[in-house]
Amino acid sequence: MTYDSRIQLPVSFSLKDGRESRIRPTTEDDARELCSILPRMHDESEWLNYMPGEFDKDERWERNFIREQIAKPTAIMIVVEVGGKIIATGGAGSLEYKRYAHHAEVGLAILKDYWGQGLGRKLMELLVQWGRDRGLRKMYLKTFDGNDRAIAIYDSLGFKIEARLRQDFRRNDGTFGDTIIMSLNY
Ligand SMILES: CC(C)(COP(=O)(O)OP(=O)(O)OC[C@H]1O[C@@H](n2cnc3c(N)ncnc32)[C@H](O)[C@@H]1OP(=O)(O)O)[C@@H](O)C(=O)NCCC(=O)NCCS
Repeated sequence: MTYDSRIQLPVSFSLKDGRESRIRPTTEDDARELCSILPRMHDESEWLNYMPGEFDKDERWERNFIREQIAKPTAIMIVVEVGGKIIATGGAGSLEYKRYAHHAEVGLAILKDYWGQGLGRKLMELLVQWGRDRGLRKMYLKTFDGNDRAIAIYDSLGFKIEARLRQDFRRNDGTFGDTIIMSLNY
């Protein structure tokens, strides 16, 4: 599969513990596997949109979503496999308006067993490069106050905090936290 981009996929990446991973474009046939790991990702992390037990998309929904996304020249979807099993997903995309076509929002999620292995940084580097290849002026993301591991990566790649939305998201314990918007200007 080719994207309107100079980043080369698939690409191999060695995790810090020596395991080999393969980063490749998402395909519609990943829908079934993604439907089984996305609920787990949301249950394992407080830093994703769905609360534990809330993710309820089925394979058909996921397949349609992937089909729509990968048909767009303004979006990219990536999965990472270890031993032939998907363990992470990431992507970026622009809004469907010419007025906003110069930027894209980026996001990623990794199964907890694979946190701290350098993969988040590698995926962000690839997605930032995808934006650069497309001639974007900026890439932005939303994260949650307290997601220090993610913020450390974004900060080291040059993302700056642009805004803080106070009391914006609900934590699992029922309290509220701030959403942080960060962006990278190319
Ligand atoms: C956030 C996430 C994508 C990061 O990916 P990862 O593969 O675990 O991260 P990496 O191993 O590439 O890098 C983590 C970096 O944070 C640093 N770090 C780890 N814990 C940290 C902490 N508590 N405070 C500050 N920095 C921290 C590490 O030292 C490392 O820095 P380095 O690259 O300079 O060595 C991943 O943990 C994840 O999927 N979390 C759940 C979902 C999520 O939060 N997604 C992002 C939503 S905005």
